[in-house]
Parts: sequence; structure tokens; C-alpha cells
Amino acid sequence: MTSETSFPADFAWGTATAAYQIEGAVREDGRGESIWDRYSHTSGMIMDGSTGDVACDHYHRWREDLDLMTRLSHNAYRFSIAWSRVLPEGRGAANGAGLDFYEALVDGLLARGIAPFVTLYHWDLPQRLQDAGGWEHRDTAGYFADYAALAARRLGDRVGHWITLNEPHVVAYQGYLHGRKAPGKRDSGLLAPVSHHLLLAHGLATQALRAELGGAAQVGITLNVNYIEPATDREEDAAAARLLDGLWHRWFLDPLYGGAYPEEVRTALDVPQALIRGGDLEVIATPTDFFGLNYYTRHRARAGQGVKPEPVIVPAQGRLTAMGWEVYPEGLDLVLRRIQRDYTPPQIYVTESGVAYPDLLTKRKEVHDAQRIAYLRDHLLAARAAIAAGVPLHGYFVWSLMDNFEWQHGYSPRFGLVYTDYATQRRIPKDSAQWYARVAATNGGHLDAEGM
Ligand code: FCB
Repeated sequence: MTSETSFPADFAWGTATAAYQIEGAVREDGRGESIWDRYSHTSGMIMDGSTGDVACDHYHRWREDLDLMTRLSHNAYRFSIAWSRVLPEGRGAANGAGLDFYEALVDGLLARGIAPFVTLYHWDLPQRLQDAGGWEHRDTAGYFADYAALAARRLGDRVGHWITLNEPHVVAYQGYLHGRKAPGKRDSGLLAPVSHHLLLAHGLATQALRAELGGAAQVGITLNVNYIEPATDREEDAAAARLLDGLWHRWFLDPLYGGAYPEEVRTALDVPQALIRGGDLEVIATPTDFFGLNYYTRHRARAGQGVKPEPVIVPAQGRLTAMGWEVYPEGLDLVLRRIQRDYTPPQIYVTESGVAYPDLLTKRKEVHDAQRIAYLRDHLLAARAAIAAGVPLHGYFVWSLMDNFEWQHGYSPRFGLVYTDYATQRRIPKDSAQWYARVAATNGGHLDAEGM
């Protein structure tokens, strides 16, 4: 098989992680409490009763983890800064030891020829800011911009790529509507204020990063955009799918790229007049350099019952992952093209793509995860097809480097290319890790190899 097109020469190949999911060391070196510490320690919130107190102990083992990345032929790595490690109270006095940790990590990456992609907010709001109102409160957006400026001042001479927020949709829906993630609220009236303040935080942080770093910084945001389809060809199901796409995707994309919220979603969410102040939409639409896409699956929607029918997601069918998510690689190509067509970001990165399967460690301490290799191969081929169609895709980050704390699911879902043996903290590269290393080392050429 020959490839019709290939990945650009400077394509970023790496993996992604998030601070609370891997670092542990939650009470060390002056780190402040975050909403995930509080939430995971609240009885009944995490399915296996675990917490991120130790996680992958990456805070102590980061050198070993960077060496792993070298073995896996990474030229890029996406990680997040724990806000409360560098600003224990969320604002005010900085914690030097926290900044030192990230500085050493960044230097370690650069020494290994790995480009750091820094996420500033991967869901771990400092608890002190939550106590003061969290994302319900407009001031949190300003504190976030101050934190971004602090990170830029310390790391901006070495970090080329900055991601302001990870998946504000998940923060709003799971954190404030369904209560399945920190801070665990259940109030549909909070969707609009929380998401608006998150978007405002993104815009203000983008401006703060630019003020500190000028054109040197590449700034973007990461959204989760999956592929949404109507479950049938009935007109009402098409409308339901469109509304779902509006609530989950356009509600974020339209203001970021078009400076306005979609009208029908404003109505559906019953947005209070006073929420959106003059100038907010301009701030939110501050131009960025790249769009970060997290893609996992397809959702099929149908119209619910009732006077104001809400979209209902039909149960996933076909090939399912350990999370119960449908495997749908074509959707990655379709979503990439859609983002490009509707929003034309200058560059796109797939900032997360990956899969949990029930991996088994053999007696010889190996993990033969052929299913994960197939999953990644199919998604990378979809990404390549999108590039062939003209999508300016510049990198791909597998979720995740290693198995880690999967939020409310605890440690049972294993998303890593590397198996984490939590009892010993030993890292064991799975077959997929070796495979991905070859793909990265050949800039995608290995995707065409026979008998993978
Ligand atoms: C994404 C999150 C990431 C991880 C994966 C499985 O939504 O950004 O932290 O939980 O899902």
C-alpha cells in the first residue's frame, strides 16, 4: 500500500496527560487543594473509591517518564499545570516550588528534543476559588488570566504552545449539570454562566499570554467535539441532533470563531440578559493560533418526548470500548473537515485521541493490546485522510502516555500506551507503545507497513 498523502514534515507526535491524573504528591511542596482533591475525597464520588493522591507518582518519577517518551519517539508532549501547585490559593502569592517543578519538566523535555504543549486548565480549579464561587463567578476568569500571565513569565521563553482550557463543555455539563465530575453540582441554570465564564477566561488568558509573549506564543483552546448524527431520517431526530450539536459544540465554537452564541441555544439554555456584558464576545473571539480537538466517538441522537423535547442520545452500538463508547474512526475525519469548513482555524492539533480496553498483563509482564493498535491506526488513517482533504492538521497526541486516574471512574479504565502497575509504579510499555513509536519515528510511514 502506498500513502496518497503524508503527514507534514514537522508533524507533532506525542501523548497527552493531565496533572491531577498522573502527578500525585497532592500535599507536597506547598501545593494547594484543588476541587478534584475535595471531590475525590468525598465518599461515593469515585467508582472504585480511589483518589489522585498518588496517581502515577509522576511528580517524583517525571525523569523516568520523560525517558519513556524518548523511547516512544515523541517529538511533542501535552501536559497540564496544576493551578493550585503554582498558586495554592488560586491567586495572590505564587509557590516557587511549584513553578520550579514545571520549569524542570519543561527543561527536561527540551533537553530530549520534545516540544512542550502546556494546558493551563485541565479541570483542577484551586479549592479556594471554588469556595469563592468557582466558575459561576465572573471574577474567576480574571484570576485565570493572572495565572496564565504568571506561567508565561516563568515558562514563556521555553514553551511554544499554550492551551488555555481543556474541554469547557465537560466542566459545564459534568461538573455543574450532572454532578459527575468536580465540583459535583447539579443545576441546569449553571450551564450558561459557567460556560460563559470559562470562555471569557480563555479570551482573557489568550490576551494575557500575548501581552507577555507577543508573537512567540502559539495559543489555542482544546474542545471535545465528537461526531453527532440523527438516529433516524425522521425530521424531528435531525432537529434533535442539530440541537445537541448546538448545545455541546456550537455553543463553544461559534463565539470563539464567530463572536456570537447560536441563537437557538441561547433560547434553549434560557441565558439571563445580564450574563453577557458588552465587550465579552470580542474578548472570547480574540484570535488564536490553533484549535485543539479531542475526539473519541460518535453520538446518535433522537427527539425526546414532551412539549419542549430534549435530544436523547441512543445507546451506542457496534464496536465498543471499555468505556462503552462506540469506535468510529471515520468521525475523526468528518469532524476535522467540519471544523475546518465552518471555523477555519489557522492550524489544528488532535490534542487527544485514544481508547480504554481491558488490558491484561501477562506472566512475562507484557501487554498485547492489538485492539488499541487497530483503534489508533484507524484514527491516524482518518487524520491522514483529513490532511489529504486540506485540513491543516499539525500534530496528534494519544490519550494517554500511561494508564492513570480516569476521573470518576478511578483507576480501572486503562487508556495508556504504557501500562501502569500501580502497586509498584512500574511502567510497562504495551505493544501499542512500540507500534506508536515506530509510527512517530517514520512520520506516519509505518501506518502502511504490512502485518502490524
Ligand atoms: C477527556 C479528558 C481526559 C481523559 C479522556 C479519556 O475528556 O480530557 O482527561 O479523561 O477524556
